[in-house]
Amino acid sequence: MVNILGLCTRHQLLFFFLYFIESRGAWQDGVKPKVIPKLQEHKVDRFPGNQTHSDHFKLLERDGNYLLVGAKNIVYNISLATLQEKKRLEWYSSDDDIHVCRVKGKSEEECQNYIRVLALKSNNVLFVCGTNAYKPVCRDYNQTENEYKYGEEQTGEGLCPYDPNHNSTAVFAGPVNHRTDGDLYVATVAQFSGADPLIYRKPLRTEQFNLKHLNSPNFVNSLHHEDHVYFFFRETAVEYINCGKTVYSRVARVCTKDKGGPHKYRNRWTSFLKARLNCSVSGEFPFYFNEIQSTSNIIEGIYRGKKSEIIYGVFTTPVNSISGSAVCAFSIKQILETFDGSFKWQEDINSNWLSFPNSKVPEPRPGQCVNDSRTLPEMTLNFIKDHTLMDKAVPSFWNQPLILHTGFGYRYTYITVDPQIETVDGNRYDVLFIGTDNGKVIKVVNAASASGDGKVVPVIIEEVTVFQNGAPITSLLVYNSAFQFKLVVVSQDEIYSIPLHDCERYASTCSDCVGLQDPYCAWDESRQRCTNAGPRGWIRGKFVQNVSHGWDEKCPETELGTETTPTTTSAPTCPPCPLECACPSTEGARNVTEHEPERPPSSDSSPGGSYSHHQASRHDGDKEADVVSTVDSQLGDNGALAGASTGYMDMYSAETLAIAVTTSIVTSLVVGFISGYIFSRRCRNEEVDSPYDDGHYLDQRHRGGPLCQEPTHLNHGEGFLSPGTNNKPINLVLNVPPKNGNGKNANSSADNKPAQKVKKIYL
Ligand SMILES: *[C@@H]1O[C@H](CO)[C@@H](O)[C@H](O)[C@H]1NC(C)=O
Ligand SMILES: *[C@@H]1O[C@H](CO)[C@@H](O)[C@H](O)[C@H]1NC(C)=O
Ligand SMILES: *[C@@H]1O[C@H](CO)[C@@H](O)[C@H](O)[C@H]1NC(C)=O
Ligand SMILES: *[C@@H]1O[C@H](CO)[C@@H](O)[C@H](O)[C@H]1NC(C)=O
Ligand SMILES: *[C@@H]1O[C@H](CO)[C@@H](O)[C@H](O)[C@H]1NC(C)=O
Ligand SMILES: *[C@@H]1O[C@H](CO)[C@@H](O)[C@H](O)[C@H]1NC(C)=O
Ligand SMILES: *[C@@H]1O[C@H](CO)[C@@H](O)[C@H](O)[C@H]1NC(C)=O
Ligand SMILES: *[C@@H]1O[C@H](CO)[C@@H](O)[C@H](O)[C@H]1NC(C)=O
Repeated sequence: MVNILGLCTRHQLLFFFLYFIESRGAWQDGVKPKVIPKLQEHKVDRFPGNQTHSDHFKLLERDGNYLLVGAKNIVYNISLATLQEKKRLEWYSSDDDIHVCRVKGKSEEECQNYIRVLALKSNNVLFVCGTNAYKPVCRDYNQTENEYKYGEEQTGEGLCPYDPNHNSTAVFAGPVNHRTDGDLYVATVAQFSGADPLIYRKPLRTEQFNLKHLNSPNFVNSLHHEDHVYFFFRETAVEYINCGKTVYSRVARVCTKDKGGPHKYRNRWTSFLKARLNCSVSGEFPFYFNEIQSTSNIIEGIYRGKKSEIIYGVFTTPVNSISGSAVCAFSIKQILETFDGSFKWQEDINSNWLSFPNSKVPEPRPGQCVNDSRTLPEMTLNFIKDHTLMDKAVPSFWNQPLILHTGFGYRYTYITVDPQIETVDGNRYDVLFIGTDNGKVIKVVNAASASGDGKVVPVIIEEVTVFQNGAPITSLLVYNSAFQFKLVVVSQDEIYSIPLHDCERYASTCSDCVGLQDPYCAWDESRQRCTNAGPRGWIRGKFVQNVSHGWDEKCPETELGTETTPTTTSAPTCPPCPLECACPSTEGARNVTEHEPERPPSSDSSPGGSYSHHQASRHDGDKEADVVSTVDSQLGDNGALAGASTGYMDMYSAETLAIAVTTSIVTSLVVGFISGYIFSRRCRNEEVDSPYDDGHYLDQRHRGGPLCQEPTHLNHGEGFLSPGTNNKPINLVLNVPPKNGNGKNANSSADNKPAQKVKKIYL
């Protein structure tokens, strides 16, 4: 009963969420980009890869000024400066392997060799693993002048997934700066069926088929830091034992010194621990962004006045719920503290997960980095086998997301950070680049990050559509050398590089330049230009910049604008947008603001289905932006600002709009409340009546979902809902369509997800 109530609360939360989307008050969703530029062809480099076939690019490794990109049957070595191909390593699967793969029912597209793991062992030796037509293989390649030659070949089982779409990650980590004696740490899935997820370093692995270790994980990143290798992933939460299933984000770690335990533990980690990552908006009911999608590298900087090491991560809500994305940061220190805290445990299969009493934890404490793990006592090893999960979640660094986006337009998919960019006054800001699933890149800073009081004031400097076809961004990389400032943007089939900053283009007056709040840009008083520091750095006194407030008295025109308050109030007045922005107060502006809320909710639940719709609406938006920017150029350089101060017409229309929006907020509040109320009543009634009906009822509402199925497969709820679900897995297994593999379709795997999960468990 408690369980069902839990579920109801969850659904009521959705209504709260809807309400928040409308009100935009407590949530920072009103943050609008300052510039929405069009890509300028001559500033973009492109690497098309194979023009006729899908490449399935995966960024693998940066080698100085070169980038190694794993693709289908090929590793490209491309120059970062120009995106020209310099070299390629071709590796096709043998006809025999392809034949066997085809016989096993995989498509021609799947029966190719997708390069998914690569490590530079030394300057000239590459360790490369490919899916090799569902029979993973790894090779050592020697680089010679013009080509790559391979010697040794070994099985890739446990090192490389069978399925090219599986979200695996690998990192080559050695004892301090010794690349050649390093080891490959991999988080992937073994077995043809993909039933055996693991974190592996020869010969150590996580427990096989133990859902407490890994439960249908999607790995997003792995990082080496001091004595540990960290893995970031999302997985089905074992500790969530209410009816239904939930995915949580995790950080796991293993010790690089781990040598395995004695006897039966000799090929098991003795140091594997994991904890939940808490990316949420606090409140009476915290709202969670549960599904991690990407993390940055570890960044060392000054935050809240103190030196800290942090990582940034992108988190989203589940695919079949209200669409929301957020960026949260976590400090290494707090991650370590969580791992030193108490363990979570479940007394027996039907009881709740609780904190394990610290006094009962065996000595030496399980999961630590020890000199020789082979001497650890059996007690400690038995304990760690069943208690890998920490009780507390790692809190996010600012106790709230740094930036979030709700609404149906897009989700965040990837993040990369250009760390600690120095500004004129000597403060340092992390510049975040966030990729979306519709081809956009968003550039964000926390304007308050230098203030030392731990506040978050997100500023979206720029939002640029990189892939006009709306291809999801799968990877980003900052290339910031002395003379090159580029952001490499990757989708499945294309790689672009765009300027990291373009100060002069976005701002031609002092106030626009300072108003951008871009740490890369400052107003050069002597040359009267908005410019970047360049390789020599800023000269104090000569440049005007104010990232924290976007205002400086040396640029008097700014007083007309409202730059000082980046978070807009509920009145839909135009936020500060110096140039080429789609929201000056003309006819077009209303069109833009009115269109957004109209996007149908359906676009959220099935990204595949609504694809064309997205494209259509984006297209409209583009057209309007076009119109607006021509208006802008007629108005002159600070067109938007001029527009904002031109007379009563606009103010009048803003008022009208304000009334309209207020009405809609009130309406949605009332509707949300009533539906929430009805829903909770409904749940409560059915709780009393019959849990079966309840499950059924909820099930219908979740297209994605065998909501109440997980308990059976976790063996938690024996008897609970099991009669109704017994035949479902069979259905689902039968439903697995032979994936049609004309690879360009990135969504097919997402659609198959529930089916695959069941397959994993039952076959
Ligand atoms: C593109 O891929 C196809 C199939 O993998 C291959 O036959 C063709 O040679 C490739 N083209 C280029 C230019 O690499
Ligand atoms: C990539 O190509 C460049 C230029 O040919 C070469 O200097 C570099 O070593 C290559 N890197 C790898 C890892 O193959
Ligand atoms: C690769 O290079 C190493 C050392 O440079 C050498 O020992 C090895 O035989 C080479 N392998 C091949 C296949 O050329
Ligand atoms: C996550 O963080 C929020 C806000 O900081 C807090 O209210 C909530 O209790 C935390 N949740 C967990 C599971 O620790
Ligand atoms: C572990 O080894 C290091 C160096 O080999 C040594 O300094 C340290 O005292 C050892 N620690 C333990 C607990 O034995
Ligand atoms: C930015 O402006 C704010 C408010 O005017 C001021 O307090 C702050 O010192 C300024 N920072 C710089 C670097 O000029
Ligand atoms: C919306 O924009 C179109 C063309 O961009 C224009 O014809 C139409 O009048 C606008 N509608 C409103 C309500 O402003
Ligand atoms: C891998 O991650 C992406 C992005 O979150 C997701 O769409 C896809 O379904 C995942 N792949 C698998 C096989 O689960």
